[in-house]
Amino acid sequence: MTISPSGVTLLDLEPDADDFLAQAVAGLAGKPRTLPSKFFYDERGSDLFQKICELPEYYVTRTERKILERYGAEMAESIGENAELVGFGTGAGVKTRMLLGHLRKPIAYVPVDISKQHLTESADALSREMPDLEILPVCADYLQPFELPTPSIKPDHVAVYFPGSTIGNMKPETAKQFLERVCSLCGRSGGLIIGVDLQKSKEVLESAYNDSAGVTAEFNRNLLVRANREIGADFDLTNWRHRAIYNRAASRIEMHLISERDQIVHLGDHEFAFAAGEKIITEFSYKHTIEGFRALAGSAGFHFARAWTDPEKLFAVFHFTTL
Ligand code: AVJ
Repeated sequence: MTISPSGVTLLDLEPDADDFLAQAVAGLAGKPRTLPSKFFYDERGSDLFQKICELPEYYVTRTERKILERYGAEMAESIGENAELVGFGTGAGVKTRMLLGHLRKPIAYVPVDISKQHLTESADALSREMPDLEILPVCADYLQPFELPTPSIKPDHVAVYFPGSTIGNMKPETAKQFLERVCSLCGRSGGLIIGVDLQKSKEVLESAYNDSAGVTAEFNRNLLVRANREIGADFDLTNWRHRAIYNRAASRIEMHLISERDQIVHLGDHEFAFAAGEKIITEFSYKHTIEGFRALAGSAGFHFARAWTDPEKLFAVFHFTTL
């Protein structure tokens, strides 16, 4: 346990440092070749992602925020009073505040995040804004099983908040297993409020991930910069180009890094030969339909309560419950 200046106590379940080298070697040896998207978010990567969120083409963050502005009060009402709100990867906490501000008699707020620094900073800021709310930050990987801290007052129910369409990074089977774990974490009379990006035209999707300012390209290529720095790889950045395509059959955006020539890359004791035009897949971002996502959550044990969307149906926020 660590106590911050404002007196918020952090539950530290931070996992051991990830083996970037082993995971990169395994991914590059595969067919197709891949690199894991979770390594995007070093300091530079997190800054670039913040910039992506403000791009004119990247409708995702802006649209989710608008839905919260418009329906935050309804969502809070749908959750009900005396809730313990658990936030997964809620980052700077802007969206969370839009929900928390409307909740009736929240018992506690439990932000769960892998980044200890973000977590502590946003928990401190929130505790100054809402001094009467018990805040119990947990540093953990919410993709793995973990236990919730116990608030000093017993809540009537637990509601998990998972914004940002981060679930889009998961293949449907992984998403189902993840939702099953969330379902048991919620316990009885619990709930899940989740932001999900929706299927739309290939043109809109591809321009959101191939922005004209080239920020997404830098974000993607930063993975190679990071591999060079942290695991001694020798990617020549002038030989790699960003491309994002919408794979309609699989309902997902795929982020690729394309080799611009025949080349050899070294990583540890390993050597990887790339042909001109060959790709490394760095991220999947699945796009759902409202019906499809309802069915997915249903298969994991959740009951559909409500969904809110924007007029163009670009994005949806769902409320599911447990019995
Ligand atoms: C953070 C996973 C929601 O898939 O839109 C943005 C990540 N990648 N641009 C997304 C991302 C390229 C983002 N998520």
